[in-house]
Amino acid sequence: MGRARMTWIGTSWKMNKTLAEARAFADGLVAARGAFDGVRAFVIPAHTAIAAVRERLPSHVPVEIGAQNAHWAPAGAYTGEVSMGMVADAGATLVEIGHSERREHFGETDETVALKVEAAVAAGLTPLLCVGEPAGVRAAGGEIDWVAGQVSRGLSRLAGHDVGRVVIAYEPVWAIGEGGREPLPDEIAPVMGMLPARFAAAAVLYGGSVNRRNAAALLGVPGTDGLFVGRAAWDVAEFLALVRIAARARHAGRPDAR
Ligand code: PGA
Repeated sequence: MGRARMTWIGTSWKMNKTLAEARAFADGLVAARGAFDGVRAFVIPAHTAIAAVRERLPSHVPVEIGAQNAHWAPAGAYTGEVSMGMVADAGATLVEIGHSERREHFGETDETVALKVEAAVAAGLTPLLCVGEPAGVRAAGGEIDWVAGQVSRGLSRLAGHDVGRVVIAYEPVWAIGEGGREPLPDEIAPVMGMLPARFAAAAVLYGGSVNRRNAAALLGVPGTDGLFVGRAAWDVAEFLALVRIAARARHAGRPDAR
C-alpha cells in the first residue's frame, strides 16, 4: 500500500544464549533504536528467551521477534513441543520453518513444513520458510529445481492469497554454519532471481555465511530483499553493523526494482 520496500536483516540465535545474554542483546537494540530506518529487523531467540526479549524491547524499537520452530497443532499431547499460538503469546510475530538443521536432525519434511506454514498463517504469524539445496544437488546443477520444489511443497497448503504473507529464506545447505562456504553473489543469483519470479511471497532473503564483509554484495543480488544471518550476528554490535550496511545499501538505491 505505497509502503516503501524495506531491507530485511534478521538473525536466529539457534541453541545459544542464556536469559541474561538475551536481555543484554535486547538492551543493545534499544540503545541503537535510531539505526533501523528503512530496515525490517528481526531476532529469533530460543523459545526460552522469546518473552524476555519481548519484555525488554519497548514497542518503539522496530525489531520483530521470532521463534525457531513451532508445532502445527493448536494444542494437545505433544510433549516437548510448543504451538504457534504459544510462541505468538510469548511475543513472536514470525516463525522460522524448515531450517536445514531441523530437516537434518529433527526429521522435518516438506510435509511437516507445509503443515507448519499453514498453522503459522492461521495463528497470524509470518512464516519464514527456509529452503536450500545440499552440496551434491548444487554440484549436479539441480539447485533451481530443488529449491522451487521445496518452496512449492512448503506452500502447498496455503490459499493463493496467503502466499503473500510468507517470507522465503534461501539458505543453501553448503553455505550454512561452521563448515559452510561463503557464496559468491553469482552463485546465488539464479535462485534469488527465480524465487520472486515464481512465488508471490512477501520477501525473499538470503542466508548462509553472511558477514559484514559480504553483506553489501549479497544484498545487491537482484531479487534479494534482505539477509538472514547466524554466527556473524550473535553479537549485538555485529548485528547492528549489518543493519547499518542494509540501511546504506537501501539509501544507495539498489538496482533491484521489485
Ligand atoms: P550462518 O547460519 O550465518 O551461521 O551460516 C545461517 C543460518 O543457519 O540461517
